[in-house]
Amino acid sequence: MTSLTQSDAWQNLLSHFATIKDQHLRDLFASDPARGKTFTLQAAGMFLDYSKNRINAETMKLLIALAEDAGLKSRIEAMFTGEKINTTEDRAVLHTALRAPRDATIMFEGKNVVPDVHEVLDRMADFTVRITSGDWKGHTGKPIRNIVNIGIGGSDLGPVMAYEALRYYSNRDLTFRFVSNVDATDFSEATIDLDPAETLFIVASKTFTTQETMTNAESAKQWLLEGLKTDESAVAKHFVALSTNAESVQAFGIDTDNMFGFWDWVGGRYSMDSAIGLSTMLAIGPSGFGELLDGFNEMDNHYRTAPLDQNLPVIMGLLNLYYTDFFGSQTTAVLPYDQYLSRFPAYLQQLTMESNGKHVTLDGDQVDYDTSPIFWGEPGTNGQHSFYQLIHQGTHLIPCDFIAFTKSLNSIGDHHDKLMANVFAQGEALAMGKTADEVRAEGTDESLVPHRVFEGNRPSNTILIEKLTPSVLGKLVALYEHSVFTQGVIWQINPFDQWGVELGKQLAKAIIPELSPNDADLSHDSSTNELIRRYRSMK
Ligand code: F6P
Repeated sequence: MTSLTQSDAWQNLLSHFATIKDQHLRDLFASDPARGKTFTLQAAGMFLDYSKNRINAETMKLLIALAEDAGLKSRIEAMFTGEKINTTEDRAVLHTALRAPRDATIMFEGKNVVPDVHEVLDRMADFTVRITSGDWKGHTGKPIRNIVNIGIGGSDLGPVMAYEALRYYSNRDLTFRFVSNVDATDFSEATIDLDPAETLFIVASKTFTTQETMTNAESAKQWLLEGLKTDESAVAKHFVALSTNAESVQAFGIDTDNMFGFWDWVGGRYSMDSAIGLSTMLAIGPSGFGELLDGFNEMDNHYRTAPLDQNLPVIMGLLNLYYTDFFGSQTTAVLPYDQYLSRFPAYLQQLTMESNGKHVTLDGDQVDYDTSPIFWGEPGTNGQHSFYQLIHQGTHLIPCDFIAFTKSLNSIGDHHDKLMANVFAQGEALAMGKTADEVRAEGTDESLVPHRVFEGNRPSNTILIEKLTPSVLGKLVALYEHSVFTQGVIWQINPFDQWGVELGKQLAKAIIPELSPNDADLSHDSSTNELIRRYRSMK
């Protein structure tokens, strides 16, 4: 057994779990009329109702004890103060410095990093104003109207999610497109109706070596030069780079004056508030971006200073861990009841699973507990007419996070009341279910009774916020970032590396040249060899 599962804190929770695992939420609510108020938390402009979880006061006490036992408070401090907690890459983890106010001091290796952060933000703001005012002209003298962000993973998911989430606040004079897949269809469809003379490409890549991004960036260059019937001199007016790798940016042909940098202490999936957010700033303007950063910062301060039992990311992280390791839940559904958050679950997939999808502890020992669950989701109410059936009546226990807003940004008739009625109804239905007696009382034929029974006892959190704003988006992202960290600390894993993506990259690199010659020897397994041969003969 690992030190975690051997610990008193874990064992106490395990004994307690045996007493609560079969209790029904119906009974927990019936025996405590105040439950719907007790297990709630209001902080950083958010309201979290976690009463529909399979917990009681003792569960929460034991979960908090588990966090204390893991030294969570001191690990949080270690992260915020720039200790190199990403030990497998020998890096600090300072994404919280990206949203620190201008007058803050965050020392890393003897230097305050905050002025550097704000220097880049100021350059991004100047650039944004030049583009939106029309002062920045393309190669032929036309102003820029189309922004195409080329990036993948953290250099795409954050920007595209934030663009969609904050579209209400966006500059409608500009068209935004996002290209990530090395599948040429992505690039072709994103650019098919754009005029190269009015198009700016943002090449977003921390490393500036990522195969998909560099391939798309080269194709973009070709598309531009062919479209404008000109030479490389046009690149300067139509390409900017977001990267930590100035040398490769220059080698690609982008002037480093048109590069916005960040630092190796910003992980890709924690970078949407760095220079990687340039497309977001172009969409919502420098002041909107400032509000986004302030929202992040507010949640950071809450996470750093609030007691563990009144700490939103801590509570959410602990509950997620509780279902994963004690109930054996394999997945968590994130269900935003807001169309603008349609890409939020996809964004969270990288944040959560690339961070905590790990099988060894920081010391390299195999874990004997499950780590990150699979995150997935879709905006409500669409999901209700698709996969909710399984959540309600299937055999998997799927904890759900509902995210809803009391005010709609697009108020038409009674749409919003209907939307909110649905989110409240889903939480209630999942928790309370419907008994066989209740089904019978509706006059249901006996043969159909089992089919129409809802067991209930399906847990959910409801996050209720006034309205979706840039600041709220920052808070929401930081909430999940810190929930992920909370779990990573307890699981004793490194949420900040991603070695698991390397093998596939290496193999793909080796296979590329093998796809051309018909007679070259292949030395893969027989399945891979046959697939390659078939592709060669049919391509
Ligand atoms: O392959 C995974 C990954 O390294 C992610 O962690 C990262 O967000 C993505 O690739 C893109 O990397 P880059 O920004 O360096 O192109």
